[in-house]
Amino acid sequence: MATRTRIRSALAGEGLGGEVTVKGWVRTSRVGKEVAFLALNDGSSLANLQVVAEPALPNYPEICAIGTGAAVAVRGTIVESPAAGQRYELRAAEVELLGPADEGYPLQKKRHTFEYLRTIAHLRPRSNTFGAVFRVRSALAQAVHRFFAERGFLYVHTPIITTNDCEGAGELFRVTTLDLGRPRLADGEVDFTDDFFGEAAGLTVSGQLEGELFAQAFSDIYTFGPTFRAENSNTPRHAAEFWMIEPEMAFADLRDDATLAEEFLRYLCRHVLDRCQEDLAFFNDHIDRGLVARIEGVAGSSFAMMEYGEAIERLQRATVTFEYPVEWGLDLQTEHERYLTEQVVGGPVFVVNYPREIKAFYMRQNDDGKTVAAMDLLVPKVGEIIGGSQREERYDLLVARMREVGIDPASLWWYLDTRRWGSTPHAGFGLGFERLIMYLTGMENIRDVIPFPRTPRHAEF
Ligand code: 4AD
Ligand code: MG
Repeated sequence: MATRTRIRSALAGEGLGGEVTVKGWVRTSRVGKEVAFLALNDGSSLANLQVVAEPALPNYPEICAIGTGAAVAVRGTIVESPAAGQRYELRAAEVELLGPADEGYPLQKKRHTFEYLRTIAHLRPRSNTFGAVFRVRSALAQAVHRFFAERGFLYVHTPIITTNDCEGAGELFRVTTLDLGRPRLADGEVDFTDDFFGEAAGLTVSGQLEGELFAQAFSDIYTFGPTFRAENSNTPRHAAEFWMIEPEMAFADLRDDATLAEEFLRYLCRHVLDRCQEDLAFFNDHIDRGLVARIEGVAGSSFAMMEYGEAIERLQRATVTFEYPVEWGLDLQTEHERYLTEQVVGGPVFVVNYPREIKAFYMRQNDDGKTVAAMDLLVPKVGEIIGGSQREERYDLLVARMREVGIDPASLWWYLDTRRWGSTPHAGFGLGFERLIMYLTGMENIRDVIPFPRTPRHAEF
């Protein structure tokens, strides 16, 4: 058959009246008295192409027996559809069955629960919802690179295997070639000098520390890659493997950081509104009624900012009861974050200047001696979507803080070196890519916005 036309183009009426060849998977088949209809999808759009096959076709009986899920190639003519429901359809001149599918194909029904679809993660991309999710995910990944390219940020690939725990939360997955059955012990502990890297290594929780090194050479940089956290929390917002975008800017403070985060999020909102209309309309109709209005609102608004101290006061004054305690010095839980962004502000809000005790060692210490120049961006339905800060660029203060939290400064000598030579005020943040997709699709579980989710006890496919 001739060169292939993608269904998205065919549905737009490209090649109207002329002969085209399309290839895809059958979503439904309907055999009438005089004619057979196949709804064909090739992943290029949410909508299917209606293929009309008439009994004059030599293999008409075979066409009538084609099952849901089968792969076919169809040569035919794009014509205006006489029926309601679609503008154009494909009048078939030849239908070739490439890969049959029988009744065992699990996506027969129109609607399945997301829980069920997670058990068939190898097939769910062929459903409407997951087709839309992964098209939006791909569009957003490309928009991330475009945003930074337009602003002259250098894209740096930070390592996935690392020996540092950037966030200091002890959530590092170990990477080892030691014989786990018989590791050599030294003073009762595993001796990692025998291990592949000669010391204990793991999967990175964040590319930030290495990103900072590059910001001290290229001024503005970003990373975009997988990060890993052995966080044993089974929530709809946490995955053990997720993707993070981490920009870092030299000669920048917390204000600059918040400005970049705000412009970035608005840009991504506009991008999906412009480029993913069909999929967003689907999410708006089937998943989250207010989605498009909300994204439009965010794309055109400026974000609120609130001190951590004020956030605590607002939460203490709230009339709702929270599961977790609210007190100056305690971290905000998702329920608190959602209350602030949904009830207090009614849109995205930066909470800034958190108590130093609940934040990572690298954050810049404020003059009050109690808080650090941290910022979290909270958004409705998701809670924290971005975490960032201005970094402690003063050598002595950074070393002192490391000692306080029990990090041996010698273990991060290379990080400290940037504070010895040409240190600059600098700042950055991390945007959780899956949380972004949840926010822009209305999907409520992180397992449903990543192709093959990794969560406690789940890494099958
Ligand atoms: O707030 P976090 O832990 O910040 C950092 O890792 C910094 N090093 C970022 C930086 O300043 N360069 O994580 C950043 C974001 C969170 O706001 C959240 O969106 C996402 O990463 N995130 C997760 N997403 C999915 N599953 C998890 N387990 C996540 N943990 C964090
Ligand atoms: Mg955080």
